[in-house]
Amino acid sequence: MIVPDKVNILMVDDQPSKLLTYEAILAELGENLVKANSGREALELLLKMDIAVVLMDVSMPELDGFELAEIIRQHPRFQKTAIIFISAVHLTDLDRLKGYQRGAVDYLSVPVVPELLRAKVTVFAELHRNAQQLELLNTELRGLSGKLLSTQDEERRRIARDLHDGLGQELSAAKMLVDGIHMGHQSSEAKNQAALQASGLLERVMQQVRSISHLLHPPLLDEIGLQSALRWYLDGLTERSGIETVFDVQPQEFPRLAPEVETAVFRIVQEALTNVFRHSGAMKACISLTKDENQVAVSVRDFGKGIAGHIVELRPGSVGIGLGGMRQRAKEFGGELRLKNADPGTLIEVTIPLKMGDSEVRATQATLRGSRP
Ligand SMILES: Nc1ncnc2c1ncn2[C@@H]1O[C@H](COP(=O)(O)OP(=O)(O)OP(=O)(O)O)[C@@H](O)[C@H]1O
Ligand SMILES: [Mg+2]
Repeated sequence: MIVPDKVNILMVDDQPSKLLTYEAILAELGENLVKANSGREALELLLKMDIAVVLMDVSMPELDGFELAEIIRQHPRFQKTAIIFISAVHLTDLDRLKGYQRGAVDYLSVPVVPELLRAKVTVFAELHRNAQQLELLNTELRGLSGKLLSTQDEERRRIARDLHDGLGQELSAAKMLVDGIHMGHQSSEAKNQAALQASGLLERVMQQVRSISHLLHPPLLDEIGLQSALRWYLDGLTERSGIETVFDVQPQEFPRLAPEVETAVFRIVQEALTNVFRHSGAMKACISLTKDENQVAVSVRDFGKGIAGHIVELRPGSVGIGLGGMRQRAKEFGGELRLKNADPGTLIEVTIPLKMGDSEVRATQATLRGSRP
């Protein structure tokens, strides 16, 4: 879903001349104006289009404004649709109260003051646009959290499989060897041999435990900082995938940053390079990490097949947990993520401002998570 630039404003009146007057008054708002000559026609249009504001005459033959409003409100989709009544007769407070009780409603009396009509319509049109924007963000968020859960599940399954198939097998084999030694039917040379084999297996188990736990949380990050942790990660990636990496750091003696910023940058690079490996087909990637007094910037450029236009624009539905998560991490620190088709290849740039104090960072994080700081 994309929020359209213009919203639809439905004008309902049985007199064509009045519709023309409203049209002339509202034209300068630049919204989409839709006309209906009767309550019935208005209902049909409401069902067909997404209407932000209904502007209607209270006294119409057949179905008057209040009756039409009553019918509109009965439909669950239109319970919050804004309605502006235009009335030539004086409305009592009771009439107005009836209208207010039915949700977003406003009144104008004849003769209509153009500025007032424009002001009222603008307020409701903006409200509608904001509601659409919010709905869009909610849909995106729901999609992301759904994906997050399934990624978490997948990750757990992978760890369980690694533990079972890797560590489990090696440990069973080591136990068999140790049991054999313990039962004492073997010659001492065979026992030595078995002990040596068991020790080799346990060594491999230790290595696996180390690499599983490093991938879950890189210890270097806490100990000697982002620059070394990234270098360690890039060396490992080249070894595992054959992708050549060029790492450029400015300043060369890269200072320590707040731990949460270091983790965010590390995870962003990790995620970007996982994408390079999975999607780009590239055999080379350049990673740059720079810091000045205002911000830290990190970029990952590959020389692969490039990225589709709708993904570059980060359109909802086209981003997975990877890009969505990177953008979210950047946003938590008031930063931003940009994607470019670098032709050849793809460029991902993330900037994180360093001006924010700790309390500001926490407040932004809390707002983004929808909770109180
Ligand atoms: N370096 C790249 N080169 C080419 N295409 C890319 C690159 N990075 C991302 N993409 C495209 O962008 C899409 C979205 O990436 P994203 O990381 O958000 O999700 P994903 O990698 O498909 O899945 P996951 O949620 O597991 O990360 C990818 O499916 C891929 O088509
Ligand atoms: Mg990905």
